[in-house]
Amino acid sequence: MDVQAALQVLNKALALEYAGVLQYLQQSFLVQGPYREVHADFFRKLSDECRTHAARLGTYIVLLNGVPTVEPAPIRQSTDLTEMLKNSLELEREAYNTYLEGVRVAADEVPLRLLCEELAYDERLHMEAFEKMLAQKALRLADAEREIVLTRSA
Ligand SMILES: [Fe+2]
Repeated sequence: MDVQAALQVLNKALALEYAGVLQYLQQSFLVQGPYREVHADFFRKLSDECRTHAARLGTYIVLLNGVPTVEPAPIRQSTDLTEMLKNSLELEREAYNTYLEGVRVAADEVPLRLLCEELAYDERLHMEAFEKMLAQKALRLADAEREIVLTRSA
């Protein structure tokens, strides 16, 4: 494994997680509307999860004799819920792609590959959550699936 390349990817991921801590917390403060409490809780939990991811990254960076960054990636803020969701999806996508890069760079360094795979898995599920909230998924039912009739077996 190229340790310098690994440290670069891990620090890029750490900067994104720090951005997530602040961006989600800010969104939890600013979100308004009838479903404010639902979204505020959701954003607060994601902020906590970013902090947990950041801690795992910082630990591994030092394991590789690197110094963890203290600079977050750019933070996007908005007072509009839909824009918050789009900004969130964008952040999750960047983190996901960075962890995929981490998997490639980790190569045969199994523990680092496992870490990157686990974090990629988490971010993929977060992306899915935002894609659904933004109704971006192309879910189609065939005509035959629109009405399901249950029949008693003979
Ligand atoms: Fe994360």
